[in-house]
Amino acid sequence: MEKNTEGTLAIVLLVLIQGVLVSGAVEVRPSINPAVVGTSVTLSLSPSTTLKSGSWAVGESLILTWMGDQQAVFPSYSGRASVNILTGALNLSSVTVADSGVYVVQSSDIQLKANASITVLEPISNVTLRANQTELMEFNSSAVATCSVSSGSSLSFLWMNGSSEVTASNRVRLTDRNSTLTIVNVTRYDQGPFRCCVSNPVSNGTSNPVNFTISYGPDNMALTVNGQNTTSFLIGSNLTMLCSVQSNPPAQLRWAFRGQRVNTTGPLLQLFNVSENQSGAYSCLAFNNHTNMNSNIATHIKIAKPSLSGSEPQAVNVWLLPLLLVVASLFSLSGKL
Ligand SMILES: *[C@@H]1O[C@H](CO)[C@@H](O)[C@H](O)[C@H]1NC(C)=O
Ligand SMILES: *[C@@H]1O[C@H](CO)[C@@H](O)[C@H](O)[C@H]1NC(C)=O
Ligand SMILES: *[C@@H]1O[C@H](CO)[C@@H](O)[C@H](O)[C@H]1NC(C)=O
Ligand SMILES: *[C@@H]1O[C@H](CO)[C@@H](O)[C@H](O)[C@H]1NC(C)=O
Ligand SMILES: *[C@@H]1O[C@H](CO)[C@@H](O)[C@H](O)[C@H]1NC(C)=O
Ligand SMILES: *[C@@H]1O[C@H](CO)[C@@H](O)[C@H](O)[C@H]1NC(C)=O
Ligand SMILES: *[C@@H]1O[C@H](CO)[C@@H](O)[C@H](O)[C@H]1NC(C)=O
Ligand SMILES: *[C@@H]1O[C@H](CO)[C@@H](O)[C@H](O)[C@H]1NC(C)=O
Ligand SMILES: *[C@@H]1O[C@H](CO)[C@@H](O)[C@H](O)[C@H]1NC(C)=O
Ligand SMILES: *[C@@H]1O[C@H](CO)[C@@H](O)[C@H](O)[C@H]1NC(C)=O
Ligand SMILES: *[C@@H]1O[C@H](CO)[C@@H](O)[C@H](O)[C@H]1NC(C)=O
Ligand SMILES: *[C@@H]1O[C@H](CO)[C@@H](O)[C@H](O)[C@H]1NC(C)=O
Repeated sequence: MEKNTEGTLAIVLLVLIQGVLVSGAVEVRPSINPAVVGTSVTLSLSPSTTLKSGSWAVGESLILTWMGDQQAVFPSYSGRASVNILTGALNLSSVTVADSGVYVVQSSDIQLKANASITVLEPISNVTLRANQTELMEFNSSAVATCSVSSGSSLSFLWMNGSSEVTASNRVRLTDRNSTLTIVNVTRYDQGPFRCCVSNPVSNGTSNPVNFTISYGPDNMALTVNGQNTTSFLIGSNLTMLCSVQSNPPAQLRWAFRGQRVNTTGPLLQLFNVSENQSGAYSCLAFNNHTNMNSNIATHIKIAKPSLSGSEPQAVNVWLLPLLLVVASLFSLSGKL
């Protein structure tokens, strides 16, 4: 028993040593790798060698053997494989994805065994992006988009929102080997357009854009009067109040004065030749009929008489100035004492 084991070990070692020596000397070089489906690949030996006989196999299955000028191609490769009987180079045509693998050449004349790995890829065609639902509610719904191809192998997916790349985060998930994009609790900034870019080492393709319609608001309201934040005006002025709001779809806007609805809708409320009794709180009320939400903003307007003493403050100041100077100098004197 023991002797037997030793003998086997010796043979294994011999084979290993020979294998290492020869494979160090000769390499298999594919004409192209990765290769595109339907094309031809030639596997040549480098440096070129003269082989009288040998065989080619991929994984465990034999492709062909040759001896002198005779070659025998295995039925599953007939018409697709041939060997150059002088150099031992294998030519495999009309390759398919299934032809990917480790190709091993073996020859008994010079104890040669070498291999090369080949990947056959299908080019990508017809990249399609689909969303299962495009009408979404901000903070309430999730956007799901799935990217698919009609053909293509070894796919990598890259997602774009406009011109920025989409990366995974706590709200953004990429699943199914990155072919599905899920945005949880969408916000108004998630409308897209989204695209998926699919690539493999031999081709690439970009999908159609997909937009989401996200309902949001009304919120972030602002109210200006005559384009300013001022709230005091003179009798006889004309006032243009402008109400702005973020909302999708656009909010319906109404107005109220001292808590009572006024007969004006839309973003503008105009008052001509105002009088004192038009002082009070003006509100802009917003309603979004998709989110079913309300919001409002109010401003307190004061309409004042153009007082007769309108020019008095300046006159007073003129008289006050010397007095102030006196007081100031008194203070500075007392400060020094
Ligand atoms: C390999 O085979 C294909 C198809 O038979 C042929 O077109 C091509 O020229 C061959 N290539 C070489 C290097 O012999
Ligand atoms: C291919 O050759 C390398 C050394 O060149 C060897 O390590 C590897 O086991 C070989 N693979 C096969 C499948 O023969
Ligand atoms: C592209 O893919 C879509 C969905 O998979 C399919 O409906 C369409 O027919 C394909 N178009 C072409 C030209 O292959
Ligand atoms: C869209 O996909 C999400 C998650 O897979 C699912 O919850 C939702 O019901 C789907 N919507 C439609 C309209 O199929
Ligand atoms: C999405 O919103 C729900 C309800 O507001 C919340 O419970 C959940 O944590 C949110 N998920 C993420 C990922 O923000
Ligand atoms: C998915 O994409 C990320 C980058 O966004 C990448 O790091 C990861 O390797 C990809 N996963 C697969 C299975 O391709
Ligand atoms: C996509 O393919 C085109 C040719 O079809 C090539 O010019 C381009 O560089 C490729 N882009 C990427 C990112 O691989
Ligand atoms: C998607 O949105 C972009 C701008 O955000 C717009 O230019 C484009 O027309 C929209 N596409 C569709 C199909 O609605
Ligand atoms: C009005 O006031 C708000 C906040 O106080 C400010 O953000 C805004 O710029 C002001 N608008 C004008 C026209 O001064
Ligand atoms: C107010 O508007 C009216 C009508 O447009 C105009 O005749 C009047 O001159 C305006 N008054 C002021 C103070 O701008
Ligand atoms: C409000 O306006 C509408 C149409 O502009 C008009 O028919 C209606 O009489 C007005 N109501 C009041 C109270 O002014
Ligand atoms: C909802 O509001 C939009 C925009 O204000 C309007 O065009 C639409 O007719 C409204 N729909 C309903 C059902 O009231």
